[in-house]
Amino acid sequence: MLTLEQLAGDPHPHLAALRSRAPVAWVPALDAYLVTGWAAAIEVLRDPATFTVDDPRFSTARVVGPSMLSTDGAEHTRHRDPFAATFRPGLVAERFGAAVDEIVQRCLDDVVTNGSSAELRSALAGPLAAATMMHALGLDAGVDRARLLGWYRAIVESVSVTSAGRPTTAEGASAMSDLDAALRGHVAVGDPSSLLSESMRGVGLDPAEVVSNAAVIMFGGIETTEGMLLNVVWHLLHEPDRFAAVRDHPGLIPAAVEESLRLEPAAAVVDRYAMRDAAVAGTEVAGGAQVTVSLAGANRDPAEFPDPDRFHLNRPRRRRHLAFATGPHVCIGMDLARLEVVSAVTALADRFPRLRLVNGAPGPTGLVFRKPECLPVVWD
Ligand code: HEM
Repeated sequence: MLTLEQLAGDPHPHLAALRSRAPVAWVPALDAYLVTGWAAAIEVLRDPATFTVDDPRFSTARVVGPSMLSTDGAEHTRHRDPFAATFRPGLVAERFGAAVDEIVQRCLDDVVTNGSSAELRSALAGPLAAATMMHALGLDAGVDRARLLGWYRAIVESVSVTSAGRPTTAEGASAMSDLDAALRGHVAVGDPSSLLSESMRGVGLDPAEVVSNAAVIMFGGIETTEGMLLNVVWHLLHEPDRFAAVRDHPGLIPAAVEESLRLEPAAAVVDRYAMRDAAVAGTEVAGGAQVTVSLAGANRDPAEFPDPDRFHLNRPRRRRHLAFATGPHVCIGMDLARLEVVSAVTALADRFPRLRLVNGAPGPTGLVFRKPECLPVVWD
């Protein structure tokens, strides 16, 4: 029987075995149906009237309050719309490109001054993701990054213990209230053109709702983007020929990023709850049940991606993977995340052409969020 340890370690052979029997299966260890087929995943994610996020079991809402992540239908549109425009693909490069490049270069300047080895999670991936989100929300001038990361850890911890069936933590509640005060204070005195001030002025959301959505945007954009960058760099350095290929042909970097997203999506699963009895790809799902969509499983469905376990820089239609989900909850920050990661990989290849992974460096692991625990590298 499939265990949580198997899913957190190397889930791919287990997901493939499940999928070969049926694209949707009951997995007792998860207390949920697990969707491992690409078409079945799309069926679930694009049908919020049957498979909703709006359920008391959804732990994030218990910590940060209702937001776009925990609502569906008209309520979801009301929460999401004030923020969606800023993250539109056309606007992202113009609005964030220069700032992201500058953050990347600053991180790499520090890496250079420290010699000929580094740990890229703490030196690049974490700081880049956090600094970009602070900048996007217009908080970079007003809040100390270490304080923000402290709130971040307390909120993430509270969400994790709540998912494990325990009550929210006092530290999580206190971090949420500090974040609330910082965000409201910022809106009162901060840059009127920041994303936060724009949405605060917008119609339809009260200040508490803006704060909840800002928390979801900020936290949605830190852990996942950190993981996305670590996974890309790990895939490139794990097989040195791949790193050489993108270093010599930087035009291949976006393809490498998409292929890494497909093979190891930083958020490996998303949860839905069945509003009624329903059938998905021929499997009956009982009303009230949790339906966990394995984005990692869908992304290696051989019916959609031939030779699915292979890292393939010329894969056709390379954005068909579901690393950012699909349907109404499709990731609002995906183009900003891509911008950050392409900028970071381009700069790494440019400034460290002889970058190597330290022998024995760990690969991606994790049940929900997947990434290497650390990314030690050397160069000469
Ligand atoms: C700038 C970086 C990012 C920001 C600001 C961001 C923000 C968000 C927000 C606010 C949502 C909720 C949208 C909604 O419910 O309507 C979301 C959804 C999602 N994001 Fe992101 N995100 C970022 C990066 C990433 C990355 C790097 C990944 C994975 C590689 C990712 C994966 C997802 C997924 C899978 C969902 C769908 C959740 C669901 O359907 O339940 N995000 N993101």
